[in-house]
Amino acid sequence: MEKELNLIRENALSQIESSKDTLSLDDIRVKYLGKKGSLTQVLKSLGNLDAEKRKEVGILANKIRNELEEKIKDKKDLLKIKEINEKLQNEKIDISMSKKCSKKIGHKHPLTIVLDDIKEIFMGMGYSIFEGPEIETTYFNFDALNAPIDHPSRDLQDTMYVTDDICLRTQTSPVQVRTMLNKKPPLKVICPGRVYRSDSVDATHSPMFHQVEGLVVGENVSMADLKGTLELFAKKYFGEDTKIRLRPHHFPFTEPSCEVDVSCFVCGGKGCRVCKKEGYIEILGAGQVHPNVLKAGGIDPEKYTGFAFGLGLERIAMTKFGVTDMRYLYENDKRFLEQF
Ligand code: PHE
Repeated sequence: MEKELNLIRENALSQIESSKDTLSLDDIRVKYLGKKGSLTQVLKSLGNLDAEKRKEVGILANKIRNELEEKIKDKKDLLKIKEINEKLQNEKIDISMSKKCSKKIGHKHPLTIVLDDIKEIFMGMGYSIFEGPEIETTYFNFDALNAPIDHPSRDLQDTMYVTDDICLRTQTSPVQVRTMLNKKPPLKVICPGRVYRSDSVDATHSPMFHQVEGLVVGENVSMADLKGTLELFAKKYFGEDTKIRLRPHHFPFTEPSCEVDVSCFVCGGKGCRVCKKEGYIEILGAGQVHPNVLKAGGIDPEKYTGFAFGLGLERIAMTKFGVTDMRYLYENDKRFLEQF
């Protein structure tokens, strides 16, 4: 019997020692010390022994029982601490770990990319940014720009009218006069914004598009300054080798007026698909500010002169990024927008 008890003891101790969690410890307890446990069975069978032997074996069995209970308790305490530590370890939040974003962060629209680049170049040349309203009076949109009611250019820039004398601006040029009424020369501004025309939507037209107006007014500001400024802009924006070309044109609010082309940034002027074999791409309209416009802005044309230019953001974005249909710019299809 002592032999059996010692075997039970050894087995139990080694199982307690090697148990890995509190649950398996409970199993060990039941196996040896539970109601039907092997040690309990031995204790129960003591009745069959004679008094002397019963006492002897009883003492040993109880000693083993106490020893096992104590060992189980000690091991349980140890395992509990281990389990708590593991749990803490597993549930620890690593605040330095980068967050996996379920929501994708968007990025700039191609028109915004172009506008930001243009702004940066002109701000680097000391220009400030000035904005005007999209719903504009016909006075600022046309009359103050030297295009009175019967001027044929008003037909070319038909727009949506709110009343007879309030319309959606057809160009950013009205901001020229608004700027002059607000700032004293010398002044250098660019005025970005949306403009509207009653055009049907197709690959190259939209009833709403974007322009950036430029205006410089000061003493002795000449056409040469305009050319130098635009040349610098073209080189910075399209690349150092870019050349510009001025073609005579007519705008009511500038005199003389011109359209400005840049040498194709893809073929360098040889002629390719992007420049439609022209070698040059038209990017803006410009000229010296007409004396009547200076007067409308409260500036003395005898003392001051200036130049102005207006460029279309869509056209620049389309040529720069090789976009063949203007509608892509407004559809907000992520598959398109993600390419820039
Ligand atoms: N406003 C003109 C247009 O929309 C462009 C322009 C601006 C021309 C400034 C000359 C000077 O076509």
